[in-house]
Amino acid sequence: MSFAKLLKIHERLNELFLLHQEALLRLDLELAAERLRIYERELRAHMRVEEELLMPVYERAGKIAGGPPEFFIGEHRRMLEFLTRFAAALSELKGESGDPARRVIRLFDEEAMFKSLCDHHDMRERNIFFPALDRVTDEAERQELIGRCFAANSQLE
Ligand SMILES: [Fe+2]
Ligand SMILES: [Fe+2]
Repeated sequence: MSFAKLLKIHERLNELFLLHQEALLRLDLELAAERLRIYERELRAHMRVEEELLMPVYERAGKIAGGPPEFFIGEHRRMLEFLTRFAAALSELKGESGDPARRVIRLFDEEAMFKSLCDHHDMRERNIFFPALDRVTDEAERQELIGRCFAANSQLE
């Protein structure tokens, strides 16, 4: 077993975000906001296991070029800041009258930046974080940790 298995969780998270974007595209702001909340809850659950459960194990690997823990944690913080702005933009949109098209386009533009940050972050986990975790664990520990990561996002099943 390999920590690369956790890429499944990234895929499911990306899918949840796309569901939010589909609702936004249809200008169903209520549904877009609801789906954004679900996405954020699942993303936070995933980040929590990475930071609290996996990061201490990752630190056994010592210094890794391009992969100090602060990089990963800093990206998590930035991703959450984006989500706070999206939620605020959505509730503003709901309160405003007139044609929302231009403001929705602006939100999509910001969400595109968010998605490229997520891609960058996922790539670094795939290339640096997960392989290092594979190196410093044995099969039994890997299975246990991976199981706990999936349990934290059991709603995604
Ligand atoms: Fe992460
Ligand atoms: Fe991750």
